[in-house]
Amino acid sequence: MGDLAQKPLLEKAPTTHAGLLAWVEEVAELTQPDRIYWVDGSEEENTRLTDELVAAGTLTRLNPELFPNSFAAFSDPADVARVEEQTFICSENKRDAGFTNNWMAPAEMKEKLRGLFSGSMRGRTMYVIPFVMGHLDAEDPKFGVEITDSAYVVASMRIMANIGTAVLDRMTQTNAFFVPALHSLGAPLEAGQADVAWPCNPDKWIVHFPEERSIWSFGSGYGGNALLGKKCYALRIASVMARDEGWLAEHMLILKLTSPEKKNYYISAAFPSACGKTNLALLDPTIEGWEVETLGDDITWMRIGKEGELRATNPEAGLFGVAPGTGWGTNPNAMRAIAKGHSIFTNVALTDDGGVWWEGMTDEVPAHLTDWQGNSWTPDSDKPAAHPNSRFCTPISQIDMLAEEYYSPEGVELSAILFGGRRKTTVPLVTQARSWTNGIFMGSTLSSETTAAAAGQVGVLRRDPMAMLPFIGYDAGDYLKHWISVSGKANPERLPHIFLVNWFRRTADGGFAWPGFGDNARVLKWAIERLEGKADAVETPIGFVPTGDSLDLTGLDLTHAHVEEAVRVDREEWDAELASIEEWYAKFGDSLPDALRSELDALKARMADH
Ligand code: GTP
Ligand code: MN
Ligand code: MN
Repeated sequence: MGDLAQKPLLEKAPTTHAGLLAWVEEVAELTQPDRIYWVDGSEEENTRLTDELVAAGTLTRLNPELFPNSFAAFSDPADVARVEEQTFICSENKRDAGFTNNWMAPAEMKEKLRGLFSGSMRGRTMYVIPFVMGHLDAEDPKFGVEITDSAYVVASMRIMANIGTAVLDRMTQTNAFFVPALHSLGAPLEAGQADVAWPCNPDKWIVHFPEERSIWSFGSGYGGNALLGKKCYALRIASVMARDEGWLAEHMLILKLTSPEKKNYYISAAFPSACGKTNLALLDPTIEGWEVETLGDDITWMRIGKEGELRATNPEAGLFGVAPGTGWGTNPNAMRAIAKGHSIFTNVALTDDGGVWWEGMTDEVPAHLTDWQGNSWTPDSDKPAAHPNSRFCTPISQIDMLAEEYYSPEGVELSAILFGGRRKTTVPLVTQARSWTNGIFMGSTLSSETTAAAAGQVGVLRRDPMAMLPFIGYDAGDYLKHWISVSGKANPERLPHIFLVNWFRRTADGGFAWPGFGDNARVLKWAIERLEGKADAVETPIGFVPTGDSLDLTGLDLTHAHVEEAVRVDREEWDAELASIEEWYAKFGDSLPDALRSELDALKARMADH
């Protein structure tokens, strides 16, 4: 034991990057793995690792005729979602973490973590995964190295990011800065101790050191907690890099919309977790002549281009999508990508012929399944077959409708930004902001009923600024100021138009006020026609909403009255909303930008006259 963890490590390592070697040695000394393995990202390696995971019982190989080269994983029932209560931003000063984050002094946290990680990889292999978020050929490529004792994490990171030898070689050649991202399941094995299918630890810590740009994640194998390139790096740490370097790291999809006149528009949209990003990114329009292509479904990095335009790229290489509700009826494009295989499913149900199923995948419910906890399941069962936060992990290259611009390091110029949440009441189907700053106000007060994507109660209303509440790596007021300051460097003529959307409003009878999914193309069409000066709108105190006849309803069984109901601004609901926004803004204290306080005051004045 430990032979590689000593001197030979330096000789056998496939890099001469001194900083990386020193960190790998330091971690090996702390965590005491049996072996150290440098991940090369090859197909052969992936086959070997997934074979081992099948032998260990962590992965179940699916029927290759249904899902080639695909696997299902079933987690510990206590490890199914992001753990926001246990997520920390450990900046030097508490003030810099802001009121939206958990904080502990870095020295104190480091001591705690050193205790937890001490010997935590005993009996296991320590994998070293070099990765890059975004393009390897970007002007300033964003490198990271994840050290993990989970082969499931290696196999999933291979789908979600560009990993392995090519990345490591570039890091070595340029002696590049990288984000050290340390992950351990926190489940060491004593000699002779049998492993379990999903090792993890009841004590979970997802910790970020923003000044150091480092990540320490302990105790969870679940995607958002363990695939550290994703939420931890590309959102929390990247948001801090973005603040310091003058760009934006956001929880947004990017799509390309082509009009019947063959004009292209690029649109990004920020919705909280499980509120429709992946679905909108892969939209199948129900209106003639309009086409959608995908660039990204979860994370967007934006910067001001040479001509003052706002440019967007997707730093990820895969989809880590919510399975339930993704179906042949609602999202055929995602289903086609998944059906090509090379995917890992987590906490879905298994069909008797070796495929997967989840609620909403097909209209017809299979007569018999094995549920995500391994129990026999029939439609009479009182529990869902798949966990509500079960996920598919699939290479983005498998999307037929992937826009070729996805591969361009320069990204695309945005024409519109949508902010949206899950609200049963109050928030209209779509509202165009009065101005850029008014749009930032809409983003800053974004609200949504909570979902199964994070541990905790479901259905509670919470404010979620720019859908970034769990992901802002610094003070939330500074974050809003940064939005204002970045856009201050843009050409005002080229700034995207901002819209607030809500696919989830209910009618008096409890049904959805809007059919959603592919029909959301009608809302995108209206938004584009607004910025082309072609569609009508009604001015309300909160912004511009469609007139009954300005939304294209061709082929839908809806009347103009339906639209008017879906976009109604209700005075009573908004009185309650304004009070709730007031309470929300009070939490920022001094750190709230004055421009947004003025927006709220102006909205109140307009509402009083309404
Ligand atoms: P994360 O990947 O967790 O960040 O979430 P996401 O924003 O990508 O959410 P996703 O697209 O996976 O949607 C999650 C849920 O929203 C699913 O249950 C969908 O069925 C539902 N949903 C998405 N779009 C619509 C819509 O237009 N209308 C309605 N009613 N439901 C929708
Ligand atoms: Mn997300
Ligand atoms: Mn998604």
